[in-house]
Amino acid sequence: MSKQRVLSGIQPTGRLHLGNLIGAVENWVELQQSHDCYFFIADYHALTTSYADTKNLADDIRQAAIDLLSAGVAPEKAVLFRQSDVPEHAELHLLLSMLTPLAWLERVPTYKSKIEELKERDLGTYGFLGYPVLQAADILIYKASRVPVGEDQLPHLELTREIARRFNYLYKEIFPEPQAALTRFPALPGTDGRKMSKSYRNTIAISDTPDAIRKKVGIMVTDPERIKREDIGHPDVCPVYQYYKIFARDRREKAAKECREASRGCVDCKKELAQVLIEYLAPIHAAGRELEQEPKLLDNILKNGAERARAVASATLTQAKKAIGLA
Ligand code: TRP
Repeated sequence: MSKQRVLSGIQPTGRLHLGNLIGAVENWVELQQSHDCYFFIADYHALTTSYADTKNLADDIRQAAIDLLSAGVAPEKAVLFRQSDVPEHAELHLLLSMLTPLAWLERVPTYKSKIEELKERDLGTYGFLGYPVLQAADILIYKASRVPVGEDQLPHLELTREIARRFNYLYKEIFPEPQAALTRFPALPGTDGRKMSKSYRNTIAISDTPDAIRKKVGIMVTDPERIKREDIGHPDVCPVYQYYKIFARDRREKAAKECREASRGCVDCKKELAQVLIEYLAPIHAAGRELEQEPKLLDNILKNGAERARAVASATLTQAKKAIGLA
């Protein structure tokens, strides 16, 4: 029996953070044990919002590769590559753009909200509107059946299925309809209590130093009703406690009990959490430091990944062109 095909990508914008790790990448690492996995750095996607400033792009792509590898993506188990090394993505994107109605793209919920969020950039571009079509091409070119992503990506998955159906209906049944693979954790809160996201500047990066982690955890918001040390706390509304649930399962009951009795204060609770995170990230940091010292190794991993990805992608593209009548 052949293994199920899995595909996912991540934009090389800012260092990988704990939200990415818990929301997606740990799922990648698990799936690579049992599935036929393709993971990539979505550098074309990064251009849809950062086209005007590309001076850090090459560095960001390298950092993204280092972060993914140090978080546990294993090149002997999964194919890791960068999107622009596999030009078949761009060609399929072009073909799919011909049959994707504008109205489908305009109603994607992230479309208008992102434009609002990044007001200082001009996102009234053709490429930005087409972001989900490119994502559909990324997925369909590998005929992936499972796509491990965070919840925020569900509308893009839905659109991918609609585009696949439209292609299959117009030309030939080529593309299977992919399903999302969500993690068991809801979105991780950032230091300000909102969803952890680079655009909110509330992230804890997996590459943050122990000092940075202590500082960031130290300023995290907690139960808003617990003002004085003597006030009893409500762990269920506290972002810090969310972290205990994920990263310190063995200490969570004790922490919750002491918080409810006001026998532990927020300062100590955060100090303990910072230490837990520092230890959790220590092996990831060690792996990252090794990779930093081996630029050739990194290049080879990505080159080899691109070759393996292209073998699959070019076969699908040939099929798609033939179905359309371009062969
Ligand atoms: N849009 C995704 C994100 O922002 C990144 C991405 C691009 C992706 N292409 C993909 C994810 C294909 C899954 C599959 O997180």
